[in-house]
Amino acid sequence: MRTMLSRGLGAAALALGFVWLTPAALSAEVPQNPTFTKHVAPIFQAKCEACHRPGSIAPMSLRTFDEVRPWARAIRERVQARQMPPWHIDKTVGIQEFKNDRSLSDEELATIVRWVDSGAPQGNPADMPSSKTWPDGQGWSYAKVYGEPDMIVRSTPWTQKAGANDTWWKPVVSVDLTELRWVRAIEVRPGTVKGRKITHHANSDLLQDEPGELIQAGPGRFMEWAVGKEGEIMRPNAGKLLLPGARIAWDIHYSATNEDVTDHVEMAIWFYAKGQEPKYRQHLLRMGNTGDGAIDIPPNTIKTTESFYPLRQAARLESFQPHMHLRGKAMSLEAILPSGQTVIISHVDNFTFNWHNAYVYADHAAPLLPKGTMLKVTAWHDNTVANKNNPDPNVWVGYGDRTVDEMGHAWVNVTYLSDEEYLAEVESRRTQLTRGTR
Ligand code: HEC
Repeated sequence: MRTMLSRGLGAAALALGFVWLTPAALSAEVPQNPTFTKHVAPIFQAKCEACHRPGSIAPMSLRTFDEVRPWARAIRERVQARQMPPWHIDKTVGIQEFKNDRSLSDEELATIVRWVDSGAPQGNPADMPSSKTWPDGQGWSYAKVYGEPDMIVRSTPWTQKAGANDTWWKPVVSVDLTELRWVRAIEVRPGTVKGRKITHHANSDLLQDEPGELIQAGPGRFMEWAVGKEGEIMRPNAGKLLLPGARIAWDIHYSATNEDVTDHVEMAIWFYAKGQEPKYRQHLLRMGNTGDGAIDIPPNTIKTTESFYPLRQAARLESFQPHMHLRGKAMSLEAILPSGQTVIISHVDNFTFNWHNAYVYADHAAPLLPKGTMLKVTAWHDNTVANKNNPDPNVWVGYGDRTVDEMGHAWVNVTYLSDEEYLAEVESRRTQLTRGTR
């Protein structure tokens, strides 16, 4: 991947708005003798507690020394492999600045590993940071900004039976709208406190009849939600469009539990005022082949599947989310520019079906692409015994809905721009970079 990338950097990097970061050399900031209370607890509060606390989704709480100590070895293993926190982007290629990055910095990772290797000492209890308070999860966070939501869309309830396997629940519900509205913010939460413990992710696709030819794959994903996320506020003057007759297709992952839990997921929507039309529309587009023959994976092989998506207008890409099933291994998103130059935008090298992360680019790093760019999505599927999630390496696998079938597409949030807007955006990035204001 590195060679492909270095070929595409330089002038193209600037035009694309890349801010290229070399992996930071491990600085002297990693403490020589880290202790739990002084060095590790603050990292866990910032990067683990969102999920590893009572009532949240992870299997164990990691707030106190007594809770953490028995897990020291497992923690070392998971953080070293960059499986925890769940953030599976390759840190050596592509854009590295995201709005929702929950990964450990190299220094934090090295601190945790050094702490475990030196016997996981507690340290001075007086160094322990005060405990972090978490919202109870039952209020709407954006109400502070926008007031109570304009609309709430609920998924059909599901009962996750005690001891049942993980479930992917996919109800389709209608949105109660009689006129077109522009969406400025969306927030998602499990409907009940018990539901929070089992709701792993909840994605929603928008189904509506789109006029026009620009949108090649329908209006796309409306919202992606996973534990630790509140929602999405659109950029200023940008929104998603909801049309009368719209429906939301949910895809909710409920994890196994030891008691019966009935829950639904709620989505709050805030609109722009009637008649206030934002200039930019965000589309979350599905890029990749679908249907029979789209995926064809022989037994006991690692298979690469490529697909292409032309940009008929200049665009800014806002986010990238790979979608594969149990045999998914890696996915990259590349841009083949009209000049013929190829640049890697993002590469997820450590895909895990459990975690449908959406990687949301920071405002100043979201790639700007000229009209005529071809986006290339490459999916790698591992249908061998080496893949421990593989239910059966001896079968031929094709495209399909079930988790034992496969998919290999990306959800990419796209804002289309006119050529003039594109040039103005590139120019403003260039100025920010050369002025060093970024
Ligand atoms: C977004 C939620 C989330 C965050 C953030 C997160 N975890 Fe996890 N973690 C989980 C879930 C859910 C599981 C169980 C499923 C899995 O392994 O993917 C888990 C599993 C683990 C395990 C394996 C437990 C076992 O049974 O062997 C370890 C160790 C772990 N996490 C450590 C951490 C540490 C350390 C951090 C922070 C540096 C962290 N996690 C951040 C959700 C999270």
